[in-house]
Amino acid sequence: MSAGSQLNCFQAATCGVNTDSNDDLANMEDLKSTDGRPALTANDYLTDEEFALPVICAKLNLDAGLLPKIFPIQLTERQKHILAVTFASLRQNIAEIGVVVFMRVFEAYPYAQQIFDLLKNISQDNLVHSQALKSHAFRVVGFVEKCIARLHRPDKLDAILTNLGQKHRQWKVPPGYIDLLGLQFVAAMKSCLDQQWNAETEEAWIAMFGFITYHMKEAMKMDEQSPLPL
Ligand code: HEM
Repeated sequence: MSAGSQLNCFQAATCGVNTDSNDDLANMEDLKSTDGRPALTANDYLTDEEFALPVICAKLNLDAGLLPKIFPIQLTERQKHILAVTFASLRQNIAEIGVVVFMRVFEAYPYAQQIFDLLKNISQDNLVHSQALKSHAFRVVGFVEKCIARLHRPDKLDAILTNLGQKHRQWKVPPGYIDLLGLQFVAAMKSCLDQQWNAETEEAWIAMFGFITYHMKEAMKMDEQSPLPL
């Protein structure tokens, strides 16, 4: 991919990220709770309607008809192939896409940013340049790549997803945000790949993130010893 198309790809992925929510973030600074995080407001929770995956798909211009209907999700050999090929063609831009995805989630749900110790005090304007966000986005996309590489080893895949789900539970990530992030990823990749994207690609990526989030959330449910406060 040329430097020009990389830039276009990044611009396509960043469109829709605005910085109007700086005031919200500043206001949230005043709402510290005892563990150093801001107190939750009604807006921090995903409402039932917002949590509905078809509603999220509609907002992100994804086809809700492609959402998986049978769990646990089984990816076909053709889908595994499509995932490997599309990931390879996005490799140059994938960390930038990760940054954009987190910025969009933080913009829509400022509480999500407060979950990250290293990011919670950074303004939306500065987030895009934040090394901490870049390195986190890199770890997330690196993890997705690892999952794709292990699609033929379900035992190994299950182990790393369970471990990651348990960690996210300890970090008090509300499970609804995990689905949201996955679909935001698919939407950002769709903007980047543009002409190379089709319904089959969309279905494969929705299934891949559905697979990841399903197993992470199952692991989050398993730890009954420390119930989530959210
Ligand atoms: C598909 C969804 C997601 C994937 C694949 C994912 C993946 C990862 C990975 C690979 C790490 C690094 C783990 C490690 O250092 O051992 C991580 C860390 C983390 N993730 Fe996620 N994540 C997802 C969604 C989310 C969401 C939605 C949030 C919060 C809104 C979140 C919050 C965190 C936090 C707080 C950390 C620790 C950051 C730190 O080291 O300071 N994650 N995630």
